[in-house]
Amino acid sequence: MLTSPTADQLLVWYDHSRRLLPWRAPPGQLADPYRVWLSEVMLQQTTVAAVQPYFRAFLARWPKVEDLAAAPVEEVMQAWAGLGYYARARNLHLCAKTVAEWRHGRFPDDETALRQLPGIGEYTAAAIAAIAFGRPAVVMDGNVERVMARLHAVTEPLPKAKPRLKALAAALTPSERPGDYAQAVMDLGATICTPKSPACGICPWTGGCAARAQGIEASLPAKLEK
Ligand code: ADE
Repeated sequence: MLTSPTADQLLVWYDHSRRLLPWRAPPGQLADPYRVWLSEVMLQQTTVAAVQPYFRAFLARWPKVEDLAAAPVEEVMQAWAGLGYYARARNLHLCAKTVAEWRHGRFPDDETALRQLPGIGEYTAAAIAAIAFGRPAVVMDGNVERVMARLHAVTEPLPKAKPRLKALAAALTPSERPGDYAQAVMDLGATICTPKSPACGICPWTGGCAARAQGIEASLPAKLEK
């Protein structure tokens, strides 16, 4: 019998299975906004494995947003070399300067204000609001879309299904520990609910997964033929 998946089931799993990553705070604690912002910008189009040494190097060299803001842009670009998508590094520096000069080094705590900063789009704003400030923001990326499509057996193809997947994700997002929850869905998507051969046998949501019940998990999310 299919049961309703809950955020709690995922949080229990996250508490013992989460990945130990240098930008994360212990479970139940809010992380430093500077670390969250830096990691989330680096993680756009780059893997968790590739980002970790860069994240550590940036934090050692520029421990606070004011330090990064005061660095010459050429040094930031040099330190970024290898991560690719260099517009991200320029915007990173511009954003650090904006936060340092106009906001006394403090990041805004809501999505609307965050989105006004250079290089911060819908995803990054939601991630910072949830992980650094404990706001119940709906954090959508490819992992979350895949997990939601499978959990609710959404067969409508991407990108058309995006609004539906976001509504389903919003309905599951808890008001307690929304940052841990957002990162738990990302970890689930990266380690268990993978694009190919998902490990449904060890998934905390297996009993509530509509795609699994129908045996169609590997075919979701459906994508429009190119
Ligand atoms: N990918 C993007 N942001 C992430 C995060 N905070 N944790 C794990 N994977 C991620």
